Amino acid sequence: MIPRVLSSSGREISVPGDKSLSHRSVLFSVLSKGTSRVSGFLEAEDPLNTMKAFSHLGLKIEKLSPGSYLFTSPGKSSLHSPKEELDFGNAGTGIRLSAGLLAGLSGINARLTGDHSLQKRPMSRIIKPLSAMGASIHGKEDKAPLEIQGKKLSPFVYKSPIASAQVKSCLMLAAMASETSLEYEEEILSRDHTENMFRFLGNKLQYSSPTHFKMEPPYIFEAGDFKVPGDISSAAFFLVLGVLLKEGSVLVKNVGLNPSRVGILKALEAMGAKILIHNERVECGEPVGDLEAVSSNLYFSDIPEEWIPSLIDEIPILTIAGLFAKGGFAIRHAEELRAKESDRITAMVENLRNLGILVHEYKDGYEIPEQNSSANSSELQAWLSGKGAKISTKMDHRIAMSFLVLRAVSGLDLTPDETSWIETSFPGFESLLKGFLS
Ligand code: S3P
Repeated sequence: MIPRVLSSSGREISVPGDKSLSHRSVLFSVLSKGTSRVSGFLEAEDPLNTMKAFSHLGLKIEKLSPGSYLFTSPGKSSLHSPKEELDFGNAGTGIRLSAGLLAGLSGINARLTGDHSLQKRPMSRIIKPLSAMGASIHGKEDKAPLEIQGKKLSPFVYKSPIASAQVKSCLMLAAMASETSLEYEEEILSRDHTENMFRFLGNKLQYSSPTHFKMEPPYIFEAGDFKVPGDISSAAFFLVLGVLLKEGSVLVKNVGLNPSRVGILKALEAMGAKILIHNERVECGEPVGDLEAVSSNLYFSDIPEEWIPSLIDEIPILTIAGLFAKGGFAIRHAEELRAKESDRITAMVENLRNLGILVHEYKDGYEIPEQNSSANSSELQAWLSGKGAKISTKMDHRIAMSFLVLRAVSGLDLTPDETSWIETSFPGFESLLKGFLS
């Protein structure tokens, strides 16, 4: 087994604001005439890029204190076309959700782009349904940069072939911007923050099942007061660290606990982890609480397909936990991982193999036999301490952070090739982690 070298007696931390909710707080503020107030906003590259993009259309931004902003919109019909290209950096959520909103705004012309990683990611998943609504949206080989001419869109019924909150939210925002109706169905529920924020502003969704709803105008867009809790996707790194401590626990305060996001808790618990929830409450239509992860012994557990959308972003760090599980670790039905900031199946498989760990790769996941049988721990340790190992992070924040957690809990000599990507979602991650090592 890879050794666990780190202990901590009851350390308490908080993590930055939820990335999904931060993007959405900008987009709902853009749609609502007047001044919306946001607190807990994630001041990381991804949501800051979304904020900046809409400032080019007329959104006024006033920063009150760290994470607290006033967003003043002239109302959706008084926005103007941006003079410059809108750059969403590394953010799939930023570009896909904004594309929906802009495609539904009559008279707005915009060009949306992003970094090298974003320009490789599939956009046909939004281009196809938006075009079917009558939108004008084009990208070479269906990739960014995307050219959009906003239009009044038609009522639309869509059964999504993938459980993607980005696709769902893109179409919902297009319907809202265009004041048209949308009936949307997905096979497995993807994160439902857009639905929650929509209802928080006083709108209604008519559900025929938990994964099938209809929305119909007129919509209410009143400037809101949005409170963003800590991001469970960021908390996940410290929850796994807490579970993998030799002894002790970690308390992560003020974390969003939306049921469509808590797959990481379910999976860790199924693997034998002790995670306690304290101080549960509801803020802005979203459940929130404090999470305490206690040093635990882990074992293999099947991760069911229906949990995948609710832990899709946490699979790299869950895999690090899985390296310490008796009986090994497997993730399947997760082909969507190949369409993230990097191909996360390849990224995890390549890096783990490079450490001497046996991994079976599949189209939709991978399997890691128990470390006792796949790699001799003393050999692994000796090899790494002699040579060290480079981690290829592939422009992907979550790959970088996952291996930094592995390094912290195991003491293995791992060096990520680049860590600047962490700024897209979790500024301060490395110093928070260092706090555990001192
Ligand atoms: C997100 C949805 C998910 C997730 C991403 C954030 C969102 O993507 O991976 O990090 O905020 O809607 P998909 O919708 O592509 O699964």
